[in-house]
Amino acid sequence: MRLPVQVTGFAALTSLLSVFITSVTAYADPLPCEGTCTNTHDPSLIQRASDGTYFRFATGGGMSIHTAPSIQGPWTFVGEVLENGSSIDNSGADDAWAPDVHLVGDMYHVYYSVSTFGTQESVIGVATSESMDPGTWTDHGSIGLSSTEGDDYNAIDANLFQSEDVDYMSFGSFWGDLFQTTMNGDALTVTGDAPYQIELNDTGTRPSEAAYIFQHDENYYLFFSSGICCGYSDTMPAPGEEYKIMVCRSETVTGGYVDADGTSCLEKGGTQVLGSHGTVYGPGGQGVYDDPSLGPVVYYHYVDTTIGYADGDKRLGVNVLNWSDDGWPSV
Ligand SMILES: *[C@@H]1O[C@H](CO)[C@@H](O)[C@H](O)[C@H]1NC(C)=O
Ligand SMILES: *[C@@H]1O[C@H](CO)[C@@H](O)[C@H](O)[C@H]1NC(C)=O
Ligand SMILES: *[C@@H]1O[C@H](CO)[C@@H](O)[C@H](O)[C@H]1NC(C)=O
Repeated sequence: MRLPVQVTGFAALTSLLSVFITSVTAYADPLPCEGTCTNTHDPSLIQRASDGTYFRFATGGGMSIHTAPSIQGPWTFVGEVLENGSSIDNSGADDAWAPDVHLVGDMYHVYYSVSTFGTQESVIGVATSESMDPGTWTDHGSIGLSSTEGDDYNAIDANLFQSEDVDYMSFGSFWGDLFQTTMNGDALTVTGDAPYQIELNDTGTRPSEAAYIFQHDENYYLFFSSGICCGYSDTMPAPGEEYKIMVCRSETVTGGYVDADGTSCLEKGGTQVLGSHGTVYGPGGQGVYDDPSLGPVVYYHYVDTTIGYADGDKRLGVNVLNWSDDGWPSV
């Protein structure tokens, strides 16, 4: 940033500070949300094609399903995807994480994770339904992707990306951060090709997770969450180390992701899209959805500091993405 030459001393400093403060805090607030906007950790959203009803899925138990006539609600709890838990034989089968919903052909797929906090004993599974209504889900169990202690990655936080020829599965959390592999044609199982790394921030605790790839114009955008997700009511992270939403960009879905400064996202790169601001704290666990009426939106969970920091208090946030700034998304 360059300052006008005649602006010096204190004036220059305050000008510099105000520009700096504006640029780091100028995030729009989440859109208003009505109905049940909690019970929304690691949300995943989609509008049902047949009748326009919005469906929202979230971490925990058999993964809650909320429905609404609009993306802003009012949201109503209607049931769970895995009413009797996952068929995956792994610790955590009754507490599925990080749902990722997509329409594949004429079937809705929800990818999910079975794991336990702080371990690499993890499996990615999938359930399918034609309508997404409770009681209509078929659990297919593992997609053939799992991890155990000592592996390069942690097999959680699945994200499907569908392209004309191949479907891709991105995943990962801490350890080696974010990886990707390919899916078979039915998008129910991985091909078995070795997963490859698409992002690594090897500082501190290697805190990248929750990959979500979205295509915009000719580019692929890798959104992810960086920082500490959970447990704020027990231990507050150091300032700046709480959850925040980052983005990297590539001309191919498989990698070469860089941030807005051109830094490789395999070498600590990442441009912040949304962080704590105002009464919003620790936004993350995001996805991106091309909403039929609003256009591309980023949706996520966050703490409303006027309500409470407990994981159960986290709320659904939705912001319209603005791509007009040099091809980088902002809110
Ligand atoms: C869950 O278990 C109950 C009781 O065993 C059974 O009636 C129900 O059909 C099961 N639901 C699914 C989706 O398998
Ligand atoms: C990388 O990790 C460090 C340490 O947690 C964090 O402060 C930083 O924001 C992260 N960078 C990116 C691009 O996510
Ligand atoms: C989108 O971003 C551009 C560039 O920063 C800005 O000029 C424009 O006002 C923004 N549009 C909206 C709807 O916020």
